[in-house]
Amino acid sequence: MSDFTNGFWPWYVAGISLVSIIACALLLWLAGKATVMAHPGQAEDNTTGHVWDQDLRELNNPLPRWWMWLFIITVVFALVYLAIFPGLGSYRGLLNWSTQSEHKQDVTSLSTQVAPLYAEFTAAPVETLAKDPRALAVGERLFMNNCSQCHGSDARGSKSYPNLTNANTAWLGERSAAHIVQTVTNGRVGMMPPMGAAVGGEPEISELANYVLSLSGSPHNEIKAFSGKARFSVCAACHGVDGKGNKALGAPNLTDDYWLHGWGEAAIVSMIKNGKNNVMPAQAPKLTADQIHVVAAYVLSLSASTLPATSAGGVSGAAAKPVGKAMP
Ligand code: HEC
Ligand code: HEC
Repeated sequence: MSDFTNGFWPWYVAGISLVSIIACALLLWLAGKATVMAHPGQAEDNTTGHVWDQDLRELNNPLPRWWMWLFIITVVFALVYLAIFPGLGSYRGLLNWSTQSEHKQDVTSLSTQVAPLYAEFTAAPVETLAKDPRALAVGERLFMNNCSQCHGSDARGSKSYPNLTNANTAWLGERSAAHIVQTVTNGRVGMMPPMGAAVGGEPEISELANYVLSLSGSPHNEIKAFSGKARFSVCAACHGVDGKGNKALGAPNLTDDYWLHGWGEAAIVSMIKNGKNNVMPAQAPKLTADQIHVVAAYVLSLSASTLPATSAGGVSGAAAKPVGKAMP
């Protein structure tokens, strides 16, 4: 209870609480003292003189004892509670307890419990952990809680969110422990500048897009692709002369079947014209280095480097290929 922004409110809150309790006690005391005043209609037989339904008379008895005691107990309980726990303005209570401190204690005690397990995990390289079922079980849970909202619970991603089960060739960076740890810790920004002006007008951009499609054997217009080939030189700086990408720059392989930002001429034209600024936020503020070590092992375990690139995430060329769109 220390988040008041103004010195007046703690007193105000504490005042209302205390005054209410004192008022209750006072009322109790007065009710115990006072007797109903005698009045003309009062009978001698200890009734108040109130009669209902012809013969139902109200007795003038004091409050029942058990009821009085219950009332006294609640008043005492309230005072003891407010002395022990925070409740009176900014007064912290005798125990100095707060939800925050309790949470902190829980976290600390949990961390001490799992510390030996994590110590064992962090002593091993990520590559070894990627074969340890216990580490993978923990890693999977970390993945579900921290990564699945973007990469999917099966890690197969979606448009603009990479499929992490892909083989190395379809990754933006190296599919390695170092790259995964680095990416998770610091996040990453995939940046391709808008290239429209460097390529030319609409026809030139369309020709280049068809050439890019031809690199992966996707349906394309051969004539346009032929004319577009020379224009690929402005892309080669990042994507390589052969279009196989450059992992150091995060420029993806354009010759495979995996399309992170969408498949087809329209998607490629849009990439050329608008470029891309694709951000993964750093996870270091949320995860400890030990947790990142373990989740990296899980991610590494998801794909063997020998697997072919799958296109379940992103937009699949194979699945999306509209028959007959290839040739005019
Ligand atoms: C808010 C969404 C978001 C979250 C959460 C997120 N990521 Fe990412 N991640 C992305 C995006 C977007 C990219 C692609 C960035 C780019 O285009 O360069 C990416 C890229 C990656 C890459 C690089 C893939 C490659 O091809 O090189 C890895 C590895 C990765 N994420 C792992 C994780 C792990 C593990 C977690 C959980 C600890 C996680 N991410 C959490 C959005 C997210
Ligand atoms: C300065 C480096 C750079 C240049 C030059 C560049 N690109 Fe890129 N390109 C990138 C990066 C980096 C990405 C990945 C963005 C991300 O991480 O999401 C990308 C992504 C793409 C994609 C999306 C691939 C997918 O899987 O969805 C296409 C298509 C593409 N570029 C085509 C081109 C073409 C065509 C040119 C030439 C006109 C070009 N790029 C020039 C860096 C570059």
